[in-house]
Amino acid sequence: LFSAVEMAPRDPILGLNEAFIADTRSNKVNLGVGVYFNEEGRIPLLRAVQEAEKVRLQAAAPRGYLPIEGIAAYDSAVQKLLFGSDSELLAAGRVVTTQALGGTGALKTGADFLKRLLPDATVAISNPSWENHRALFESAGFNVENYPYYDAASNGSDIKGMLEKLNSLPARSIIVLHACCHNPTGVDLSNDEWKQVLEVLQARDHVPFLDIAYQGFGDGIYEDAEAVRLFAASGMNFFVSSSFSKSFSLYGERVGALSLVTASREESARVLSQVKRVIRTNYSNPPTHGATVVASVLNSDELRAMWEAELGEMRQRIRDMRISMVDKLAALGAARDFSFVKQQRGMFSYSGLTADQVERMRAEFGIYAVGSGRICVAALNNGNLDVVTQAIAEVIR
Ligand code: LMR
Repeated sequence: LFSAVEMAPRDPILGLNEAFIADTRSNKVNLGVGVYFNEEGRIPLLRAVQEAEKVRLQAAAPRGYLPIEGIAAYDSAVQKLLFGSDSELLAAGRVVTTQALGGTGALKTGADFLKRLLPDATVAISNPSWENHRALFESAGFNVENYPYYDAASNGSDIKGMLEKLNSLPARSIIVLHACCHNPTGVDLSNDEWKQVLEVLQARDHVPFLDIAYQGFGDGIYEDAEAVRLFAASGMNFFVSSSFSKSFSLYGERVGALSLVTASREESARVLSQVKRVIRTNYSNPPTHGATVVASVLNSDELRAMWEAELGEMRQRIRDMRISMVDKLAALGAARDFSFVKQQRGMFSYSGLTADQVERMRAEFGIYAVGSGRICVAALNNGNLDVVTQAIAEVIR
């Protein structure tokens, strides 16, 4: 049965974790996966999460099955975070939200549902994009294309190329967009650029799929959902995949959500019934712990304020690391100006390092980054910054 099964390549991101763990060098640094590490180099367990977990443990609640769509208090907290608590769409019952297995699970549930709705549609993702976007939509049976996004010359967005491509795709294509903190480039569209994109999407009757996995890591929790609110105000139907992996530091708990904006409350009921079938036939219903914790935090004034402060600290530390990285590289006389790294948003820096340079960083210095040149700035700290910047300066010399 398995004799002809070929060895698959390692996952471009999670495969780095495997290689990193197997690496026996004591000074190794993992800048591959998108995970926030604190100044001590550890994944934090947020205080707000610890408080909510204490209450949960004391309650000794039974572990029955959750509803297929997840915990109601969680789903509605997600909606408010994304669309705003005063959203007209929410009041009109036009948003369907289901708990999902992280942002990836939300994307896959959305992709499987879309395959039933638009089986022949083209999916377009940004060039570059998160490595798993293409694989995930292809595995759901779609043909996946790229739209231009990043302009290497300016280290900014290629909005002209993007609009041209979106205009030329077949009508009713599915357009995957990073709502904030673009992965891997850290380059976000301005409000004005978002409006131009929205106009083309509406004119071409495309289906927007907003992916928001880093809300709170750009400018703030509210600010980072600007694109979601813009699309909400447009009257379009669209998909949103969201995640608390990073913003709650709950990676392994798989806490995400899929939200769909429909035309009416009545349509929402029909859409929900179908999304539930997708979930039921994939994994039946979601797990309890992470979503319970997130719902408790978001629905408590006290814990929510604590969480917002902690997320603010993470955001600020990443910004500080960007500045330190740029300054140190300049002080080392690096052969390139890295000041653009200060403008990038979120956890990543698209460093411009080539695949060969990334490989040299790993082989010679034990520093792991993604082959695209993506570096997780959120894994830098004052203890590893010197070795990392020295290695970068060396490989680009
Ligand atoms: C990343 O981009 O590194 C994260 O989103 C983790 C993942 O699942 O790839």
